[in-house]
Amino acid sequence: MSEIATAEARPTEARLLQMVFPDHTNHLGTLFGGQALAWMDMAAFIVASRYARSTVVTARSEQVDFNQPIHKGDLVEVIAKIVKVGRTSMQVEIDVVAEDLLSGARKLCTQGRFTMIALDPLGRPTPAPPLPAA
Ligand SMILES: CC(C)(COP(=O)(O)OP(=O)(O)OC[C@H]1O[C@@H](n2cnc3c(N)ncnc32)[C@H](O)[C@@H]1OP(=O)(O)O)[C@@H](O)C(=O)NCCC(=O)NCCS
Repeated sequence: MSEIATAEARPTEARLLQMVFPDHTNHLGTLFGGQALAWMDMAAFIVASRYARSTVVTARSEQVDFNQPIHKGDLVEVIAKIVKVGRTSMQVEIDVVAEDLLSGARKLCTQGRFTMIALDPLGRPTPAPPLPAA
C-alpha cells in the first residue's frame, strides 16, 4: 500500500470542485444562490481550518456578487484564499468559476469575502498564525 504524505502545514488556498446537478438549481435551471453560498462557506471553512489547524466558524459573509449565472451540468470550482489575518480572524476571498466540461471554457461567475474565526477546544476565539511575509 502506498504512503500518503501529510498535508502541507498551512496552505493559504483551497479548491472545491462540484458538479451542478438538477437539485442544485432554481426554476430557471441555473445554480441557486443559496447553494453557491453554501459551497463558498464550505471552501472558506476548509481553507481557514487547514491554515489555522483549529476548528473555525464563519463570523461574516460580505460583498457576494453573483455576476453571471451558472448552468446545470457545469463544473464549479470554488477557489478560497486567505488574504488577511487579524488576531483570531481570517479574511477569505472566494472566486466561483464555472467550467463547461465539453469545451473547457471557464468564466468567473461569483466573488465574495468571508471572515472565519479560529476557536480553541472550548469554542473560544484563539489566535490564528500570522500570514508569511510576501
Ligand atoms: C464569531 C464568534 C466566535 C466571535 O465571538 P466574540 O465573542 O465576538 O469574539 P471576539 O469579540 O473575541 O472577536 C473575535 C474575532 O472575531 C471578529 N468578529 C466577531 N464578530 C465578527 C463579525 N460579525 N464580523 C467580522 N468579524 C467578527 C472580531 O473582530 C475578532 O477578530 P480579531 O481577533 O482578528 O481581532 C461568535 O460571534 C460566534 O460564535 N458567532 C456564531 C458563529 C456561527 O455560528 N457561525 C455559523 C453561522 S450559520
